[in-house]
Amino acid sequence: MKDFLAVADHSPEVLQGLLNLAVELKQEHQAGGNKPVLKDKTLAMIFQKPSLRTRVSFDMAMRHVGGDALYLSPAEIGLGKRESIADVARVVSGYVEIIMARVFAHEHVLELAKWADVPVINGLSDYNHPCQAMADALTIYENFDHQLKGLNVTYVGDGNNVAVSLLHVCAKLGMNFTIANPLGYDIPAEAVSEARKFAAESGSNINLLTDPEEAVHYADVIYTDTWTSMGQEEETQKRAAVFPPYQVNAELVSKAKDTVIVMHCLPAHRGEEITDEVADGPHSRLFPQAHNRLHAQKAILVELLG
Ligand code: CP
Ligand code: NVA
Repeated sequence: MKDFLAVADHSPEVLQGLLNLAVELKQEHQAGGNKPVLKDKTLAMIFQKPSLRTRVSFDMAMRHVGGDALYLSPAEIGLGKRESIADVARVVSGYVEIIMARVFAHEHVLELAKWADVPVINGLSDYNHPCQAMADALTIYENFDHQLKGLNVTYVGDGNNVAVSLLHVCAKLGMNFTIANPLGYDIPAEAVSEARKFAAESGSNINLLTDPEEAVHYADVIYTDTWTSMGQEEETQKRAAVFPPYQVNAELVSKAKDTVIVMHCLPAHRGEEITDEVADGPHSRLFPQAHNRLHAQKAILVELLG
C-alpha cells in the first residue's frame, strides 16, 4: 500500500486491518497516549477547499504519534496553477514523509500520487472521500458490536463523493447499501459497477432507489450529506428546489428500525438535509463519527509509514 486514494483500491482484508488498527490506536490514545511511532515524520496537508475535520484530525493524528503536520492553504500552493502538480509532488516529496491533499478534480490527486515519491492520501476530491468512509465504517463497527456483514446502510440524498466512498466501503466489507436520490443525482455509473464487483465477492446487496421511505425501511444506518457540495455552489438554488423530499427528519427516521443510527459526514446544513431534531436526537452518531476521523486516519498514516 503506497497511497490511500480510494477505498476501491484496497482489499477487504486491508480495509479490515485498518479498522482493527484504528480500534487499537483509539484505545491506546484513550488509555493515556499513543506511542511516538511516527517520530520525526511530517505530513504536508495540501488544501484546495476549506476544511475543519480533515485538517484538524490529520494534524492531531500526527501529533499523537510523535509526528508533525504542515497546513498548505489554497492560496499558498496554487496546485496546477502557480506550479504544475508534477513539480509540486516532486518538490514536496523532498521535504516531508507523506502528503494529504484535498482537491477539486479527482485526477489531480491521482497525478500528485503518480509523481510523489512519498505516500499520498486523498482528503476528499469531487469524486470520493475515502478517509471519511473509513471513519464511517469504524463508527458503524463500534456501534454494532464489531460486526459489519449484513448491516443495512441507507444513504439519502445526493450521489456525491461521500456516497461513492460509503458505497465502496459497504460493498467491500459486506454491508448492504441502499441509496435514495432524486432522478439525475445518481452515484456515477462507474462507481456503481465497481461496487457490484466488490459486492459479488463480499455478499453485499446494492439497491438504487428514488423513494426515501422505501429506502430506510430496513435500515440499520441512515446517512446523509449536503445537497450542494463544495465546487457546486452555482447549483445551490436548483438543488434546493429538488432535494427537500430527501430531508432526514424525525418522520423519515421513524420508518426505519428502532435501533437505527443516523450519520452525516458534516458540515451539516441543519434544516436542509437534516433537521436539528434528528442531528441532536437519540439516533444521531454525528459527533462520535466526526471524532473517529482522528482514529481512522491515524491508522492510515501509521500503516502507510509503518
Ligand atoms: N467531513 C469532512 O471532511 O469535513 P471537513 O470538510 O470539515 O474536513
Ligand atoms: N460532499 C461534501 C462533503 C464535505 C465533507 C463536499 O464535497 O462538499
